Amino acid sequence: MLDFVQTAEEAARRAGQILRAWSSKFTVREKSRSNLVTEADEASQAAIFEFIHGRYPSHGFCGEEGLSINETDSPYRWVIDPLDGTTNYVHAFPYYCVSIGLECRGEMIVGAVFDPVHDEMFLAVRGQGASLNRRPLKCSGINELSQSLVIASLPVATSAHEKAVSRFLTVLPVAQSVQRTGSAALNLANVAAGRVEGFWSTSLKPWDMAAGILLVEEAGGRISKIDGSHFRLEEPDLLATNGSDIHEQLLTLLV
Ligand code: IPD
Ligand code: CA
Ligand code: CA
Repeated sequence: MLDFVQTAEEAARRAGQILRAWSSKFTVREKSRSNLVTEADEASQAAIFEFIHGRYPSHGFCGEEGLSINETDSPYRWVIDPLDGTTNYVHAFPYYCVSIGLECRGEMIVGAVFDPVHDEMFLAVRGQGASLNRRPLKCSGINELSQSLVIASLPVATSAHEKAVSRFLTVLPVAQSVQRTGSAALNLANVAAGRVEGFWSTSLKPWDMAAGILLVEEAGGRISKIDGSHFRLEEPDLLATNGSDIHEQLLTLLV
């Protein structure tokens, strides 16, 4: 396990350096409306893959920028978002990260989220806790939504009439504050760090969530779908909280 977490950390740091190096020279393409990609996303993924595949050539891989290697003989699969928060990165808004998760037989066992702007390395190992720059992490103890900072992820191209927008508006007058930030992985890391009480979305991909859900669970938080049922990485909906009564309070509002 130590080898896996060191590999995830080193890969995330290398990727962070690449994001920094590209920050003044990238060009932007739209994969679909408002869904941006840059050379930095691609170079970051290539570096992560080269490093991890070099160590574990038999493992499977799934990465946002067209990386899909299914190794049926291996129980391991790395789930990678080489740059989560591309829109923020493009605008030099300092809220983006690299996210790397390792799954074994469908269960997340290692997670690394690295914020290269603030040099924050969030790590989690199944059953061994979560840390931020080597200090143990614990979700916040706040248990009232009226005292909570919560975050929603809306779909990339959102229309005013979407259910995701009405859910956002429903929570708005109840929580202390509701934000939309542009990096799901960093939102999850911040729930684990006790800075944010809850985060939900119905439009995420496995690479947005893989590392972050383990961080939240290992920091004492709770993960479910937004109807309260069992979370699945392959499905787009997620409610992550600090594990207090806020989880139930949000479930009631997010119907
Ligand atoms: C996006 C971010 C955002 C979420 C979007 C994702 P990207 O990832 O995680 O918070 O709302 O659904 O696509 O495209 O910046 O890697
Ligand atoms: Ca993402
Ligand atoms: Ca991405």
